[in-house]
Amino acid sequence: ENTQLKDIVSHAKEYGFVFPSSEIYDGLAAVYDYGPNGVELKNNLKRLWWQAMTQLHQNVVGIDAAIFMAPQTWVASGHVAGFNDPLVDNLDSKKRYRADVLVEDKAAEYEAAGQQDRAADLLATLGRLLTDNDLAGVKELIVSEKIVCPISGTCNWTDVRQFNLMYSTQGSAVEGDAAQIYLRPETAQGIFVNFLNVQKSARQKVPFGIAQIGKAFRNEIVARQFIFRMREFEQMEMQFFVRPGTEEEWYNNWKQARRRFHEAVGLAPEKLRFHDHDKLAHYAKAAVDIEYEFPFGFKEIEGIHSRSDFDLTQHQELSRKKQQYFDNDVNPETGKPYGNYVPYVVETSVGADRLFLATLCQAYQEETITEGEGEKEQTKTRTFLKLHPALAPIKAAIFPLVKKDGMPEKAEEIFNSLRFDFPVIMEERDAIGKRYTRQDLIGTPFCIVVDGQTLEDETVTVRHRDSREQTRMPISELRAYIGQAVSF
Ligand code: GAP
Repeated sequence: ENTQLKDIVSHAKEYGFVFPSSEIYDGLAAVYDYGPNGVELKNNLKRLWWQAMTQLHQNVVGIDAAIFMAPQTWVASGHVAGFNDPLVDNLDSKKRYRADVLVEDKAAEYEAAGQQDRAADLLATLGRLLTDNDLAGVKELIVSEKIVCPISGTCNWTDVRQFNLMYSTQGSAVEGDAAQIYLRPETAQGIFVNFLNVQKSARQKVPFGIAQIGKAFRNEIVARQFIFRMREFEQMEMQFFVRPGTEEEWYNNWKQARRRFHEAVGLAPEKLRFHDHDKLAHYAKAAVDIEYEFPFGFKEIEGIHSRSDFDLTQHQELSRKKQQYFDNDVNPETGKPYGNYVPYVVETSVGADRLFLATLCQAYQEETITEGEGEKEQTKTRTFLKLHPALAPIKAAIFPLVKKDGMPEKAEEIFNSLRFDFPVIMEERDAIGKRYTRQDLIGTPFCIVVDGQTLEDETVTVRHRDSREQTRMPISELRAYIGQAVSF
């Protein structure tokens, strides 16, 4: 319960889940690399999401759009004009801050000091100023609240100005603005611009959805909390195209479906909550976050947005290509087909990295255990990852009890019989207890031990990660047993 983010960060690094990017050069702020166990866990999460979307719904199909898109895309989507955060610099420390986050942190201070009303007032004022785009007002708030720079301790602030979060690069050999292209800040637009290509080629009828997993890039002003807020990250998004007037029903359906998904992958129900937005993004008509209780508090892992026909209409106007669908279902009110319309969109958007972090925080367990008997009895702390077996990077580790008497050969035989079905490993180094510990630390649900008895009766012991209990089982039953446990 007292797990701190720093425990997770060091565990992630030490056991090959997440490393700071280019660490030998002291890293690059807010950019991280996934290690051998991390990439397996992340791929498992992505695969489950993909299956939950495309396999469980006949009317949801996938795409994989490019990161680079025609620059007009981001004019139409509103990102060029409006994808900004309010930025303020401290003149002494030369550090940049998000002005709204400084005020939010101040409100959190009031709250921690028991001044709930004062905190609520401050947040309400901030919300009003941001909605009115009143940046001078935000600056006044920072000054009147005497907010100081956490580094320099002074309140020597610049004016607050809007900072666009999109990264850009040169799109061709030609110099100049015309050649400027962006790295996508959300994967969603790759779906919107392909709406008709997909609808026609996949012969879909509204309502239907398009799912995509891919990288997105944002020049976040403040990056903190490990992989929670990164400059390069991965999104898993699904746009669901619906008949206008039915969007509220679909919004509620997807809201519930997405919460069920998070519970199914192992996030504790009491650590999940919905948070309705008061401040809506430029495209949204209604929006709710699914938040998870991280060691640093409840924070967003997924957004569900009712985007109306905003994006498709914008693209239709700028591209001058119709983004309409002909609905030949009969409208009971008129007795005629619904006909042509620009569909409304309900979007579900989850960060793969945030889901990964939530999963790691949820799985991380420290328990006090007693080992040995009599004089040899000792208590110690056991750390293990209680991952759903479907998510575990390695499903089973096969150990010969000792490196002799034919046990390694038998272990290898078992390893070879399972490796085509599951990620398994074989290890013969070190004492058996140490080998168990290594697997606990990366969340391997089963350790299979070949001992003297195995050579006589073709049975092995299976040691269970969570309970540490051991059961004896015929080798011939292993595949079905593991298969059952790791299925989802
Ligand atoms: N297409 C809608 C959209 O992009 P968003 O709320 O800005 O909505 C969706 O982002 C999800 O993407 C978030 O819930 C979060 O999980 C993830 N995300 C956004 N910014 C991120 C960042 N800087 N680092 C990691 N994940 C991020």
